[in-house]
Amino acid sequence: MARLQLRSRRLVVPSQRGAPGLAPLLLPLLLALPLAAGANCPCKNPALCNPITHRLNFEVFVFDVGHKVWKYYDWSQITTVVLFADYDPELMCHAHSKGARVVLKGDVSVKDIKNATFRASWIAKQVQLAKTQHMDGINLDIEQEVQRSSPEYYALTALVKETTDTFHREIKGSQVTFDVPWSSNCVGGRCYNYTEIAYACDFLFVMSYDERSLPWSQCIAGANSPYTQTLTGYEDYIKIGISPKKLVMGIPWYGVDYTCQNLSKDHVCTTAKHPCKDAVHQQVPYKLIMKQVNNSPSKSLWDKSQQSPYYHYQDKAGHFHQVWYDNPQSISLKAAYVQNRGLLGIGMWHANCLDYSEDATAKKQTEEMWKALRKKL
Ligand SMILES: *[C@@H]1O[C@H](CO)[C@@H](O)[C@H](O)[C@H]1NC(C)=O
Ligand SMILES: *[C@@H]1O[C@H](CO)[C@@H](O)[C@H](O)[C@H]1NC(C)=O
Ligand SMILES: *[C@@H]1O[C@H](CO)[C@@H](O)[C@H](O)[C@H]1NC(C)=O
Repeated sequence: MARLQLRSRRLVVPSQRGAPGLAPLLLPLLLALPLAAGANCPCKNPALCNPITHRLNFEVFVFDVGHKVWKYYDWSQITTVVLFADYDPELMCHAHSKGARVVLKGDVSVKDIKNATFRASWIAKQVQLAKTQHMDGINLDIEQEVQRSSPEYYALTALVKETTDTFHREIKGSQVTFDVPWSSNCVGGRCYNYTEIAYACDFLFVMSYDERSLPWSQCIAGANSPYTQTLTGYEDYIKIGISPKKLVMGIPWYGVDYTCQNLSKDHVCTTAKHPCKDAVHQQVPYKLIMKQVNNSPSKSLWDKSQQSPYYHYQDKAGHFHQVWYDNPQSISLKAAYVQNRGLLGIGMWHANCLDYSEDATAKKQTEEMWKALRKKL
């Protein structure tokens, strides 16, 4: 996911019985242990522990990082919640009552998965965890560098295929998805067999953010998810043989705050240059941006070529900052592409970035962000 939350808290994996060497023998047995429907169900209505089995023609795919604000999400839209936080049985019951899936986060070292035995036991553990927690699948978020045609390259494709087969077999109607960068062209050294991975799982979540590379942009700040570049990414995935129906667009509900070494009159923010990949920039959630932008000297500005809002301000130490973000206007444009191009859906990193307080202005801003997901222009 986005760097900020990459190392978020881990879900607790139930301890595995038996010596490690026996794991491959024991795990199929563990999987076979009966988990009667309703057994240990934390929901008031035990039927809510059953997995969600319907297939949808439109996905609204939501990442949750905790803090219990999920109660205020727009559940009329959500189809899947990925838990990047500790397991929350209350969230599972609520999601199921709304017909939405709740899925695990899956992350594993690509070095380890070259070993087929290790892979099988890792997958068995995830399935077991999903069953114990009455969850509906897994989102594989493996953002590691892999070289084309390396052993890891083939192992990763095998992992996706085997995870999907095992989940589909063990949990009725379950969903297995895989997170990919904004473009299929080895972004961040991630040279995967995207075509085969898309074929092997239910769909890809395309992370259409963190698209700005300072070294490629002469150390000049710019949009996190610029319109044309974002669309080019999807067209590239489609060109390599991936059906639009296997692609869910991921939009950012956070922005990027750059510290400028120089801010020109025509709003060009040049970052530190030596080397500029180390220039100071950090992620900011939409709720903070909304508090900052109206008090900023520039207010919200609009960049026509990138179709993105931005603003600048000066910090207490006197440094200028430029913040690039997404708002209902920029998101609507991308959401319209999702509809027109017939992609499977849309989602965001991450749902917790909005302000779910009682404040009337915040409420309106939050509602508009959720609504923008389904905009047809
Ligand atoms: C492969 O993984 C299994 C299970 O984790 C382990 O017991 C075995 O030693 C590994 N083999 C190699 C060659 O690393
Ligand atoms: C991806 O995997 C498929 C099936 O194994 C193979 O036919 C294809 O050539 C691979 N693509 C690349 C770019 O390696
Ligand atoms: C900063 O920008 C101004 C105006 O655009 C320019 O005249 C000046 O040389 C720049 N300073 C540095 C250090 O780049």
